[in-house]
Amino acid sequence: MPRVFSGIQPTGDPHIGNYFGAMKNYVRLGEEYGKNSIYCVVDLHAITNPAAYDPAQLSKRTFEMAVANFAAGLDPSKVTFFVQSQVPEHHELSWVFTALTPVGELERMTQYKDKSEQLESVPAGLLMYPVLMAADILLYKADTVPVGEDQTQHIELTREIARKFNHAYGETFPEPKAVYAKDALRIPGVDGHGKMGKSKGETSTLGILEPLDSIWQKVRVAPTDPARVRRTDPGDPDKCLIGDYHKLFSDLPTIETVYAGCRTAGIGCVDCKKMLMEGMRRELEPLQARAADLRADPDLVRDALEQGAKEARAIAQPVMEEVREKVGFLKSR
Ligand code: TYM
Repeated sequence: MPRVFSGIQPTGDPHIGNYFGAMKNYVRLGEEYGKNSIYCVVDLHAITNPAAYDPAQLSKRTFEMAVANFAAGLDPSKVTFFVQSQVPEHHELSWVFTALTPVGELERMTQYKDKSEQLESVPAGLLMYPVLMAADILLYKADTVPVGEDQTQHIELTREIARKFNHAYGETFPEPKAVYAKDALRIPGVDGHGKMGKSKGETSTLGILEPLDSIWQKVRVAPTDPARVRRTDPGDPDKCLIGDYHKLFSDLPTIETVYAGCRTAGIGCVDCKKMLMEGMRRELEPLQARAADLRADPDLVRDALEQGAKEARAIAQPVMEEVREKVGFLKSR
């Protein structure tokens, strides 16, 4: 049976890019593989980027990220769901991998280049970030990793680290593969400037827990196909981010109506946006109601996370023991 692993950073409210690009796949794979699907809020990763990290907020955001995933349909009694810093084997394995990974390869990672460019002083943790990510995945000997397209390079590095370890110490780890969501590889930001991303700030993101009024304020002013200058100008919905969002939120008849209406100038962009909001409301309102119920019972959420960490450690500890032995550390008696 495949072993699934993925992680999500608690650096801000989860947005529809996280939701359709990754979280929905967590749920789908969780239904298929049960406790063999392992998901984690990666708080150790979140402290590597000083621009996005606030110690006063981290534990609250970690809690909120768990709530968002449970509200989106992950059932912690059926899958393994935990907080990364509660399973110390992650950084232990990460250190072993650090000793195997050439600095040059880490410097080539595009996410590292993008993030470090914006900083005056670059923490070493930002460079080591993908090594920790490899440790997350391989600690569970996972072979299936649901992610968005932006993580492809990191998963390739994980495969390389697995190969290097296996070559140096004997066959130990699988070479994991990324699994992407169809139609949601790289969801564009609502400001029209590239990929939707938490690090780009709230003008780029539509949060799944964000009040619908606030979502509408952003959708209302979102850029559409520039060919539609006047209401009577036809457009191309494939060149419009509202068209992209319809594919995520709307049912087939609505998608057909708005696509045909855009091409023939039968509907205006405001109508098209209002129809999108109906789909968003249908998807997000029940999710937000479930999140409110979960927040009202924080002990339930915390207990589920602690139980998840126990389950994760039960898998991680024997793997780490195998690694310690192969690397040659003197066993404590
Ligand atoms: P993070 O927290 O930035 O994002 C969580 C997941 O959401 C996906 N995603 C998107 N998918 C489609 N369109 C978008 N606009 C979009 N924005 C984000 C991401 O690809 C990701 O799958 N490095 C990871 C966290 C991580 C991890 C791991 C993932 C740590 N260890 C081990 C997998 C396995 C990250 O920063 O994700």
